[in-house]
Amino acid sequence: MSSVSVFGAQWGDEGKGKIIDLLSQDVDVVVRYQGGANAGHTVVVGGQKYVLHLIPSGILHAGRVNVIGNGVAVDPAKLLEEIDGLLERGVEVNGENLRLSSNAQVIFEHHKLMDRYSERWRGDGRIGTTGRGIGPSYADKAARTGLRIGDLLEPDHCANRLRAALAEKNALMEKVHGESGLDFDEQLAIYLALGKRLAPFVGDTGAEVRRAYNAGKRVLFEGAQGVMLDIDHGTYPFVTSSNTGTNGIPAGAGFPAKQIETAYGIAKAYCTRVGEGPFPSEQADPIGKRIRDAGNEYGATTGRPRRCGWFDAVAVRYGLELCGADGLVVTNLDVLSGFEEISVATRYRVGGEEREDYPADLVDLGSVQAIYESRPGWTEDLTAVRKYEDLPQRARDYVEWLEQLVGVPIVLLSVGPDREQVIPRGLFVAS
Ligand code: GDP
Ligand code: IMO
Ligand code: MG
Repeated sequence: MSSVSVFGAQWGDEGKGKIIDLLSQDVDVVVRYQGGANAGHTVVVGGQKYVLHLIPSGILHAGRVNVIGNGVAVDPAKLLEEIDGLLERGVEVNGENLRLSSNAQVIFEHHKLMDRYSERWRGDGRIGTTGRGIGPSYADKAARTGLRIGDLLEPDHCANRLRAALAEKNALMEKVHGESGLDFDEQLAIYLALGKRLAPFVGDTGAEVRRAYNAGKRVLFEGAQGVMLDIDHGTYPFVTSSNTGTNGIPAGAGFPAKQIETAYGIAKAYCTRVGEGPFPSEQADPIGKRIRDAGNEYGATTGRPRRCGWFDAVAVRYGLELCGADGLVVTNLDVLSGFEEISVATRYRVGGEEREDYPADLVDLGSVQAIYESRPGWTEDLTAVRKYEDLPQRARDYVEWLEQLVGVPIVLLSVGPDREQVIPRGLFVAS
């Protein structure tokens, strides 16, 4: 594989960080192309846990180039915090192994404040955002009032752009939301200082990634969030503000669509969602609670309890089809040990009619009912299993059933948070 897309096939937190870290051993360049510090990608190596928000999950492997592409919304303070945190733990981070696009949008303090104020304004219609300023920053990008990382490196230019942007935001914060505005001089000084510290990492990452690929280097694109949170194809308006799947790569990384050779989706063996919005296979207590306790399902970014439910084959099939996936990685299989019976949403009931395909044209996905099928579970602990044939028969039956339902090969299984806890399967190449 010379270019591979790895993306979340559910509502986020599928275990992308772990799998991308694992695949990073086989690639030269790892690229984030969308989202921002709303992401929380967990990597566990030898019992040591790292949670990455903006830095690609290849950073723990020496010699890899990690790229934050132009499509990412970058909070400079958070990025520097993350860099410092890794350096303190002895992880090498420098201007060679971490590259930051000069065209990435900046998340300012006012974006984070507006994120919270807008949520409050929405009341019962709130999205349940991470509060990281993602929506307001991407909104400014589309409105062409945003600033990019490169702007922070040009003081006069930055001052002019920020003055104009902040004047409008202050009016909104004060007059609409009844809050106090921000001081322009103070904000300018803060962001110019942050820009200065980020300068060694900044460059034309699109050109760098294309050059690497054309020189025969292997490039891995790291999706954040999941397809069901995609701004165009997810459960709008309860989504994030970017294209989360393979579809986000060409624009967000500056990489030609026709050169994306392989795509893998990642899904948990069940399903979770953080924040508001439809979740057809959600299980109210006690099953949902049991999954949450067994899987320790609390947000890696906000610490919020994740909503839990059964695997939704209708939604995953849709996400994989949308991204042209060649295979699926199934994580957290170990979490299902001990469930007497395991269910899967195999169809939806929509207005009295049963459908196997995802109703993307439906205005209110909250009105669909999931239809389940169940299989007997297994009791054995799977966390030490490393070969497919060593899995209990019922666990294999479950995997093969999912494979049949989603329509692509399941190429890798994960049975615990650690890098080592994987079961390769068939097509998957990890040398
Ligand atoms: P991401 O956002 O897709 O990278 O996923 P998160 O890191 O937000 O959430 C996944 C959680 O599951 C993290 O706490 C991981 O350490 C953990 N995890 C990943 N794979 C497995 C697995 O196979 N089994 C178990 N039990 N935990 C896993
Ligand atoms: P990773 O990459 C799970 C959710 C939020 C909220 C909605 C919009 O770790 O899988 P935003 O702050 O993006 O405007 O919030 O999207 N959300 C995530 N849920 N995992 C994530 O990232 C998420 N990033 C955003 O909870 O419902
Ligand atoms: Mg996460």
